[in-house]
Amino acid sequence: MKKDLIIHEAPKSPVSEAIRTLRTNITYKMTKSHDKVFLITSSSMEEGKSWVVSNLAIAFTQSKQKVLIIDADLRKGRQSSIFSIDNSYGLSNALDNSNINLDNNNLDEEIQKAIFKTNIDNLYLMPSGIFPSKPSELLENSQFDIILNNLKDKFDIILFDAPPINIVTDSMILCNKADSVIIVCAIGKTKRESLIETKKKIKSMGGNILGVIVNKMPMDKLKEYTKDYTKYSNNKIIKVDNSRFKNIS
Ligand SMILES: Nc1ncnc2c1ncn2[C@@H]1O[C@H](COP(=O)(O)OP(=O)(O)OP(=O)(O)O)[C@@H](O)[C@H]1O
Ligand SMILES: [Mg+2]
Repeated sequence: MKKDLIIHEAPKSPVSEAIRTLRTNITYKMTKSHDKVFLITSSSMEEGKSWVVSNLAIAFTQSKQKVLIIDADLRKGRQSSIFSIDNSYGLSNALDNSNINLDNNNLDEEIQKAIFKTNIDNLYLMPSGIFPSKPSELLENSQFDIILNNLKDKFDIILFDAPPINIVTDSMILCNKADSVIIVCAIGKTKRESLIETKKKIKSMGGNILGVIVNKMPMDKLKEYTKDYTKYSNNKIIKVDNSRFKNIS
């Protein structure tokens, strides 16, 4: 496993505490809304989506939830690398598998082929699989809904790791498959206009925005932000409440 998994490697660090705070916030929403499928996206590249997904997933297993990560970044998904799992069969392959249909008596078996147990108890990964030549078209395949409905019965929480929404259309396709969408932005990098654009795109697809994670917070910037935000740690990740995001527009 990679150094990315700070909540596993350093569970007592302030960053890990911040991730647990994020888990608490999401759990609070889940108990009210019964949501279980969350899409994590961002405006542009490298804002920390995959990092958030992997650490948040582990945080949920630590509160005794059975968790599935679906790596829906069919262009450069890296969850398989984070968890040292083979990427030769995963979501793209399952979407392309003509044996996955409602009439198949072995539907569970076919879907399970694309799911791998990680080294973390109660954490499973559906890697992106072989990168296809037409990822957006593959994600639009109606077979996706069959797969997802099957998995919803088997896991307490499902986290989608998705590509950046302002760069490729894939996350827009994924928006209404998830109960809620969480946006990651990187402090000092994500532009206000990009966030507004992201919000518009999600809303245009009928997506339900749960909130924004402000990631990669440098220590020296912390003081000026803490007075405004609901929760923070003295490291790199904070949770911003939904209403503040709404004020952006
Ligand atoms: N809070 C954090 N603390 C430390 N490192 C982080 C944090 N968030 C992200 N990183 C690092 O930043 C880099 C980019 O993160 P990541 O791959 O998660 O971004 P991404 O938004 O998924 O990128 P892409 O758009 O390419 O999918 C990685 O090296 C990751 O380890
Ligand atoms: Mg990523």
